[in-house]
Amino acid sequence: MARAEAPKETAVAAPTVAGPRRGTTDDGPLLLVDRVAIGYQRQGRHVPAVADATFEVRRGEKIMLLGPSGSGKSTILKAVGGYLRPTAGRIVIGGKDTPEPGPDRAFVFQEFDQLFPWRTVLGNVVYPLRVTGVDRARARRQAVEHLELMGLKDSLDSYPHQLSGGMKQRVAIARALAIDPLMLLMDEPFGALDAQTRGRLQRELAEIAARTQVTLLFVTHSIDEAVLLGDRVVVLGGRPSHVEEIVDVSGLDTPDAPEFAQARHQLRALLAEEGENLDGAVFE
Ligand SMILES: Nc1ncnc2c1ncn2[C@@H]1O[C@H](COP(=O)(O)OP(=O)(O)OP(=O)(O)O)[C@@H](O)[C@H]1O
Ligand SMILES: [Mg+2]
Repeated sequence: MARAEAPKETAVAAPTVAGPRRGTTDDGPLLLVDRVAIGYQRQGRHVPAVADATFEVRRGEKIMLLGPSGSGKSTILKAVGGYLRPTAGRIVIGGKDTPEPGPDRAFVFQEFDQLFPWRTVLGNVVYPLRVTGVDRARARRQAVEHLELMGLKDSLDSYPHQLSGGMKQRVAIARALAIDPLMLLMDEPFGALDAQTRGRLQRELAEIAARTQVTLLFVTHSIDEAVLLGDRVVVLGGRPSHVEEIVDVSGLDTPDAPEFAQARHQLRALLAEEGENLDGAVFE
């Protein structure tokens, strides 16, 4: 399809304005991704992955990156994390241009092996707090508080190999939230879970995000997950990719509601334009 000059913004539901996180008064965008292009070196050649991405994330917002496999979702997330440099455009976080990686952006990945296997659940959450200079007593307090928030208060002394996949992802989320990041960057964190566990964790994350007002940039393959968890969905398409459309889905948390179905339909249509096979199990 023709490349969009600028992504359209469409509203499915009335937008809700999320408040600034934890007492800050700055209501400008926390993250600005501005005409960003990113590529990789392959056999001495530059291969573009993202041609043109523009979107912003305000404090407390939950922004979902949705697109076919290979559309550069993880690439954009890594660039926001500071691990990849854009070849064009700007990434600005909290007013800072092209930031280095830092604990202000906490990552949660899809893989279950992101925990330190030799540390207990509590040890896994305490560790990054200690590294960032939090004293022992406070680190423990903060870790316990966030593990309790994730329903893990009975597993503080367990080791990762003693946990289910869902529990490991809960620990990873607790660890990410405990360092009180500016943004939580999540790359298909529930992608490897069974449907039931995935649904439960989605609901819990939605609740925790509402309670903590954490700012979320979340990569997903799943339309329903995007509508359920997101305030806005940034739809990527093309190769190298660009932002196809940004769809407002705030307040849609009941999959049976007609507005939810309407958003699902709109996102399916956008992805179908990208030639994505919607009969597959991926885009439910
Ligand atoms: N380290 C790398 N070296 C070279 N090319 C890469 C590298 N990582 C990603 N790519 C390429 O960049 C493009 C975008 O990849 P990316 O992983 O960002 O896609 P994605 O949307 O996250 O896909 P998926 O849904 O499968 O995770 C793909 O063509 C991929 O092959
Ligand atoms: Mg990916």
